[in-house]
Amino acid sequence: MVKVAIFLASLLTLALAKPHAARDLRLHERRERAPAGFASKGPAASDKVLRLRLALRQTDIKGLQDALYDVSTPSSANYGQHLSKEEVNAFVAPKAETVAAVNAWLAENGLTATKMSPAGDWIGIQTTVEKANELFDAQFSTFTHEESGVDSIRTLEYSIPESLKEHINLVHPTISFTRRPLGPPTVSTPLSPIVPQGNLTAAASCSTFTPACLQSLYGIPTTAATESTNSIAVAGFIEQYANAADLKSFLTADRSDMSSSTTFTLETLDGGSNPQTTSKAGVEADLDVQYTVGLATGVPTAFISVGDNYQDGDLEGFLDIVNYLLDKDTPNQVMTTSYGENESDMSVALADSLCNAYAQLGARGTSVLFASGDGGVSGSQSQSCTTFVPTFPSGCPFLTSVGATTGTSEKGATLSAGGFSNIFGTPDYQTSAKAAYLQTLGSTYSGKYNASGRGYPDVAAIGQSVGIVYEGRSTSVSGTSCASPIFASVIALLNDRLIAAGQSPLGFLNPFLYSDAGVAALNDITSGNNPGCSTTGFPAAAGWDPVTGLGTPNFANLLAAVGL
Ligand SMILES: *[C@@H]1O[C@H](CO)[C@@H](O)[C@H](O)[C@H]1NC(C)=O
Ligand SMILES: *[C@@H]1O[C@H](CO)[C@@H](O)[C@H](O)[C@H]1NC(C)=O
Ligand SMILES: *[C@@H]1O[C@H](CO)[C@@H](O)[C@H](O)[C@H]1NC(C)=O
Repeated sequence: MVKVAIFLASLLTLALAKPHAARDLRLHERRERAPAGFASKGPAASDKVLRLRLALRQTDIKGLQDALYDVSTPSSANYGQHLSKEEVNAFVAPKAETVAAVNAWLAENGLTATKMSPAGDWIGIQTTVEKANELFDAQFSTFTHEESGVDSIRTLEYSIPESLKEHINLVHPTISFTRRPLGPPTVSTPLSPIVPQGNLTAAASCSTFTPACLQSLYGIPTTAATESTNSIAVAGFIEQYANAADLKSFLTADRSDMSSSTTFTLETLDGGSNPQTTSKAGVEADLDVQYTVGLATGVPTAFISVGDNYQDGDLEGFLDIVNYLLDKDTPNQVMTTSYGENESDMSVALADSLCNAYAQLGARGTSVLFASGDGGVSGSQSQSCTTFVPTFPSGCPFLTSVGATTGTSEKGATLSAGGFSNIFGTPDYQTSAKAAYLQTLGSTYSGKYNASGRGYPDVAAIGQSVGIVYEGRSTSVSGTSCASPIFASVIALLNDRLIAAGQSPLGFLNPFLYSDAGVAALNDITSGNNPGCSTTGFPAAAGWDPVTGLGTPNFANLLAAVGL
């Protein structure tokens, strides 16, 4: 009897010991409090199901970054020798020992993981709040985004077993917050407000910018591209739908030299779609397809609609679309995205992970372009602030951030978001350009920005008063949302010429753009400023500046700079 009792008692003890919780958990990530605008409603229901994502340590991420620079730096012997899917995967796949260690730990806890990225560096698990609190020594709580009323479940800190520290980069969603909207308008907002201007007219002057104005301003060719293997991917999120009838009216009005039936192809993921009812047209999506199809004449354009069924753990499809492109044998040579968020809403590890995903796309030969944001030094949108607000993902050094200019005698647009990342350090290609600017700036704004951070934007294009057709009417829009597709179209037309000449597409642009040849091929914008946070913002200046970057495109010069 006694023996049995003891036996039972020890069984009980074992059951209560939470085998892996208390054993060797170590704090992995934490944030002091939820970002401004989120309120805690207390602990999440213990039986609520959580779909968590684990980013595993990649075999050799530094090797991938080195390979990226090797194929993207014009002076390198391997310039243009972009990597295959297998070559990229070899760098980013986790090591067998990582997979084994993580899977063993999950199995001990009754969990199995699903592969969530082509290389297996992201995996997914499904569990309950109760179990996750135990597994990660976390306190998953419900946070309400006050503006939209949308709830999300997050924890302000979590731990992982010490023995897995070298195998797991991060668990998500945990300490990163997403300003998800209820419906449109949204979180990762379309960056441009719409200002109705009147009915369809072929603009006679460039007070409203049209494709003809931009062709004239930047020397963009009107002749059609020839290469069918070349393409632009236009990223679409948050139920922003690209309307084919609006595109047709736009081409009829503003590109009478093109067939008005020229259109985009549709690709979808995460349950994305592209309904064509007039009232479903999205101003951002309309703008994005009109200034790619209507400017990169003859370049095949894919509108990639990312639905709400995110697989990336609340990253709103930002990682899903990268994984989608990485899974292709030949990813689109250009991707333009006019959505973004506050850098401070992201954890350092998550921002880093997503940034490394853009590095993979660059290594594969895709030029990744993002609008820098519309709030000047106050970030994505104008907001009250005391220190300048960096945007994400513009601070990531492995993509090209596009700011905005205004007028035919171009100046930096006041809305153009620009500044310095608090997460990413200065990449080598930018060191001297940035140092020269900071030297001129002196002590102005010292303490309001992080002088050691990567500066953005990298380049700029017109982003004020750009004419589009929306819901069958002509309107004009402003925002860096205009600038990113415009710059992307220029790159796509350069790629067309390169591919026609038997050469590689440009891929990751920045080492080229910041090279002497790149700098000389851009129109340096030296006036304008980007107010915000109760300041007049940074002044544009000769050379790189955090309003217009290195400047705007000059097609003929760029063609010469790439050797054509
Ligand atoms: C647009 O055209 C419609 C029909 O022709 C007309 O009623 C309306 O006043 C016009 N709007 C503007 C702003 O010109
Ligand atoms: C950035 O954060 C501010 C609050 O600090 C918020 O008002 C704004 O909507 C956020 N912007 C985006 C795009 O998430
Ligand atoms: C400034 O930026 C660096 C990256 O260059 C980062 O490590 C550091 O934490 C940032 N400082 C602040 C106060 O955000």
